[in-house]
Amino acid sequence: MLKTAIEAAREAGKFLRQNLGKVRDIQLKGGQEKNLVTEIDKRSEEIIIQIIKKHYPAHDILAEESGGHGGQASDYRWIIDPLDGTTNFTHAFPVFCVSIGLERKGEIIAGVIYDPNFDETFTAEKGKGAFLNSRRIRVSGVDALGGSLLVTGFPYNIADNPNNAVEHFINFLMKSQAVRRMGSAAIDMAYLAAGRYDGFWEVDLNPWDMAAGALLVEEAGGKITDFKGDKFSIYKKEILASNGMVHDQMLKVIEAGGKK
Ligand code: IPD
Ligand code: CA
Ligand code: CA
Repeated sequence: MLKTAIEAAREAGKFLRQNLGKVRDIQLKGGQEKNLVTEIDKRSEEIIIQIIKKHYPAHDILAEESGGHGGQASDYRWIIDPLDGTTNFTHAFPVFCVSIGLERKGEIIAGVIYDPNFDETFTAEKGKGAFLNSRRIRVSGVDALGGSLLVTGFPYNIADNPNNAVEHFINFLMKSQAVRRMGSAAIDMAYLAAGRYDGFWEVDLNPWDMAAGALLVEEAGGKITDFKGDKFSIYKKEILASNGMVHDQMLKVIEAGGKK
């Protein structure tokens, strides 16, 4: 199944790369001014679903642009983001990826994030570790928040529902070495797994943004919770992911930022 996920992610990623700078049709999603979808997102999703269905016709699918497929009450469900980083993509800004996670009975058991710009394939299987282009990866060993490189993103509905996002951003800027904002939550999590970032937080993400990335972070030795330090789920609206060592320090910053 991981092989199929890799095949689908790489095929779709190649298509994205070939179409960078060639977007013709940009639409707003759900009437939200900042939430975009293009014909490229949709075609990428078709490429992925076609490959998965060829190998596993009885499996269920949850895909960002076309929703749920199957409904066959299979134990397996593929969770697909065909283009994570659509806003970047529409500006021909080369930070985006394909993310595919595989759930079995509600637990993520495999995940792939493919970045076609650097030709980087991040993979993880439950209990078997995390890999970048077949080489084992682990989270960083940075143990002080002051020396850590963090990353975050902002929800599309930030103007209506700020959710302390700006406060958290400012507070982390003050307490860390630096904060980045790349525009692809899946890449953020893959980079955390690879030790390039030490921590990541965001609100209002969807399961397809996090399914593969969450398994990558865990299998690379990282830690993921919600903003209270409680159990994480890809169906929750808060994520705090880290190398484990700066986790409690990050929780404290979030706690302080949430108080008005
Ligand atoms: C978005 C990206 C972005 C995050 C947004 C996501 P999309 O996904 O992951 O980094 O801040 O909340 O929705 O729309 O490009 O697939
Ligand atoms: Ca996404
Ligand atoms: Ca997307």
